Amino acid sequence: MNFQDEIQRRRTFAIISHPDAGKTTLTEKLLLFGGAIHVAGAVKSNKIKKTATSDWMEIEKQRGISVATSVMGFDYKDYKINILDTPGHQDFAEDTFRTLTAVDSVIIVIDAAKGVEAQTRKLMEVCRMRKTPVIVFVNKMDREGKDPFDLLDEIEAELNIHVRPLSWPINIGQRFKGVYNLFDQKLDLYTPSKQTITQSIAFDDIHHPDLEKHIGTDDSIKLREDLTLIEGVYSAFDTHPYLAGEVAPVFFGSALNNFGVKELLDCFVQIAPSPRPVHAIEREVWPEEESFTGFVFKIHANMDPNHRSCIAFVKICSGKFERNVNYKHVRYNKLLRFSSPTAFMAQKKEVVDEAYPGDIIGLPDTGNFKIGDSLTSGEDIHFKGLPSFSPEMFKYIENADPMKAKQLNKGIDQLMDEGVAQLFIHQNNGRKIIGTVGQLQFEVIQYRLLHEYGAQSKWEPKSHYKACWIESDDKDELENFRRRKFQYMALDKDGRDVFLADSSYILQMAQNDFKHIRFHFSSEF
Ligand code: G4P
Repeated sequence: MNFQDEIQRRRTFAIISHPDAGKTTLTEKLLLFGGAIHVAGAVKSNKIKKTATSDWMEIEKQRGISVATSVMGFDYKDYKINILDTPGHQDFAEDTFRTLTAVDSVIIVIDAAKGVEAQTRKLMEVCRMRKTPVIVFVNKMDREGKDPFDLLDEIEAELNIHVRPLSWPINIGQRFKGVYNLFDQKLDLYTPSKQTITQSIAFDDIHHPDLEKHIGTDDSIKLREDLTLIEGVYSAFDTHPYLAGEVAPVFFGSALNNFGVKELLDCFVQIAPSPRPVHAIEREVWPEEESFTGFVFKIHANMDPNHRSCIAFVKICSGKFERNVNYKHVRYNKLLRFSSPTAFMAQKKEVVDEAYPGDIIGLPDTGNFKIGDSLTSGEDIHFKGLPSFSPEMFKYIENADPMKAKQLNKGIDQLMDEGVAQLFIHQNNGRKIIGTVGQLQFEVIQYRLLHEYGAQSKWEPKSHYKACWIESDDKDELENFRRRKFQYMALDKDGRDVFLADSSYILQMAQNDFKHIRFHFSSEF
């Protein structure tokens, strides 16, 4: 197969959802279709349950599982599918945000009974920022849930995207009979037993009297009415607005019962994008380019605390990656060669000789890489799009053992390079502030500092509302702001000014007093 075909056949995506909507179940069914696994239950739920916040074994185990399931590659028909896993626990949302920078599209799973939930809304904001094409899978149709039209309205309003149903449910819950597949014009009838193949009947004329035979009179009348309404309300499906991230096709089904999953996958491989061009500061990088480029979007510390080795996950943006070839680590301006890059096929890591745009490779590393680093055939390329978002919680980190100050600082630096949380240095007193999305991250940091670096730390609460990255065209006003708000100013990991607002009131006041300053809740604007 030539280079172009290898690129065209790749589909690299993430499945995102609010916890419990069915992401793990759907992932597992997709892997079953791809032949990547053979039995249900093989995919461990990548979840740290709320009750496990102080169960360290659970977290350690979790880290092991998530290396194995970080990327799941498999072949399906003529396509090479790469599913990037995202952490289930919302305290690790930052990890998910970064993973979203490495995908070309996304499948969002929504629970039919719960509708759009908080975490889905947040993740969708990141997709919208990046114009990532999304497909929605409304799951758990075998249970009582919301009216499908209401759900579509809710998705449009809450996720701020137009929708276009490509399948339509015939009843719901106990009376659920299946879906009409608008994409393939088929009647997919539901068999409520696990692992069975859907009964699929080609059915392009919905007014044909045979419909009654399959789903009964009442449901036929209702289905015809619904479909007429859909054709009247929603524009015909077109891949362009989908690929532009403006319209989300919607499928209905039940992941647990393996219903509607194959239909989703078959449509997905056809319409989802192959690797797309990636923005770098210098220029746009196209997958078809001959020279290799890629960036690190995730770093996974090894399970063995005695060996400080990590795996850096690199998304290939252009060209072909080859084993044992020298590549430039752009930040270090140094050539590195990798003798055992791994690919992730069917939940196994294996050494690969080459990889193509869209693929993710794992590079064993001993601390050379930071999140966002680029690796190229020689060109100085810096990829954009790995923003930091304002943390929700802040704490001062203090040394609890004066003999181990060096270890603590090293540990903090390495954990931050790994992207475990965000570090800010207070400009007023030089103290280190760690910002996280949730309490669990603080616990993980303290635990890992102790076990991997032998450093004791303690936390001192710091009540901040938001971290705002600031900018202004008016240099004098910016300088004036820095002086006046000195006690609130910190530097982020890249040495950029950040305003740590104590409360929404303080932020409001600052916005009122300094009209020419723009306040951003994310480091990329
Ligand atoms: P997540 O990764 O998004 O957090 O969700 P996960 O797949 O773990 O699914 C959450 C729960 O919802 C699981 O039940 C799962 O079996 C169930 N589920 C997933 N899809 C469907 C569906 O289509 N219909 C129904 N009725 N249930 C579904 P659990 O009891 O929490 O876990 P388990 O003990 O079954 O593993």
